[in-house]
Amino acid sequence: MSLDPTRVRKDFPILERELNGRRLVYLDSAASSQKPRAVIDAMTRFIETSYAPTHRSAYTLATEATEAYETARLKVRRFVNAPSETEIVFTKNATESLNLVAYSWGRANLRAGDAVVLTHMEHHANIVPWQMLAAERGIELRWVPLTADGRLELTSLDELLDGAKAFCFTAMSNVLGTINPVRRLADAAHAHGAVAVVDACQYVPHVPTDVQAMGADFLAFSGHKMCGPTGVGVLWGREELLEAMPPFLGGGQMIADVRLDGFTPAPLPAKFEAGTPPIVEVVGLGAAIDYLGELGMADVRAHEQAVTAYALRVLHDRLGDRLTIHGPSSVEDRGGTVSLALEGVHPHDVSQVLDQTNVCVRAGHHCAKPLMRQLGVGATARASFYIYNDESDADALADGLVAATDFFSF
Ligand SMILES: Cc1ncc(COP(=O)(O)O)c(C=O)c1O
Repeated sequence: MSLDPTRVRKDFPILERELNGRRLVYLDSAASSQKPRAVIDAMTRFIETSYAPTHRSAYTLATEATEAYETARLKVRRFVNAPSETEIVFTKNATESLNLVAYSWGRANLRAGDAVVLTHMEHHANIVPWQMLAAERGIELRWVPLTADGRLELTSLDELLDGAKAFCFTAMSNVLGTINPVRRLADAAHAHGAVAVVDACQYVPHVPTDVQAMGADFLAFSGHKMCGPTGVGVLWGREELLEAMPPFLGGGQMIADVRLDGFTPAPLPAKFEAGTPPIVEVVGLGAAIDYLGELGMADVRAHEQAVTAYALRVLHDRLGDRLTIHGPSSVEDRGGTVSLALEGVHPHDVSQVLDQTNVCVRAGHHCAKPLMRQLGVGATARASFYIYNDESDADALADGLVAATDFFSF
């Protein structure tokens, strides 16, 4: 059965809210998604009935809390088809997951003169940790450029990967919406003896994800972009890689033993989960996965393709040459993230005019400044569609953009 956005909207209490008598048109899910009642209730219920510290105590309540936490890990494992739950590490967000890889895998495996390959469409979270490591270790960073329509330009990929130790790339651009050919990129990395580090922050919430089919080595994502709460992210890594890596943060929970002369790390995944974890948030992420699972990720993807195709068509029809849409024009290779440039109107002004009709879009560099430079812009206005958006939201966006052009073309 296909996804019904009208029914889905009813699951999100915030979308009932009106401002100045107008409904909310939330088109900023690429930054953070809204939360369904099921997630809010699961977190409240857990706090009200089962909350206790996990893994540390033998009393019944703590056992229940630990079970809830570990059940969420199983749900994550199934959601991304990881071979084992010991490969699922809970972090604070995708940023921390990627920092974990750069810090722990990177410091253990990279030496001066080694090369890491990135792309021009990366989010800062998949750039800066590698730049920090490069500055510290004398590592060379190489960059995959883009085509004019916002895809990866792969003709020189073999040259770029020659002698590289890691290839770090996004599965879906948070600016262009481009969906990258993850399997092909991972295979290319492996052919050159490099590991494939996949930033799937914009992918996992929108597309059925199978880490085994992707052939990746590491995969990072955040709970808050997929109907879950803030404060929890995931790093999936291949077990043998995670096993061989030193811990990232030190403290409680990540140790098997501590002596005056040193420590022995805990087995996976606790080795990478130092300190009291985001217990309630992990439970919330588990509920978000249940929610998305009930919708069906194939239907989520099909719905987003349909609503994005409609949006691209209606924007083009109503604004013509006054509007530039960055990224691929075919919805087969893109997600529901649409970055716009309206002729003669600054993206922040676009966002402010849209706000007058409660259309929420983000304006800025979207934490992708190198990409902004490639596009030759300082910022874009970005509308991003998700499960609760429908054609009326695309119409509201188009209405607002027409109003913005009228307002600024005096
Ligand atoms: C592609 C991509 N990677 C990484 C991140 C970082 O996510 P977080 O801020 O949840 O750590 C984002 C967030 O916008 C993103 O879009």
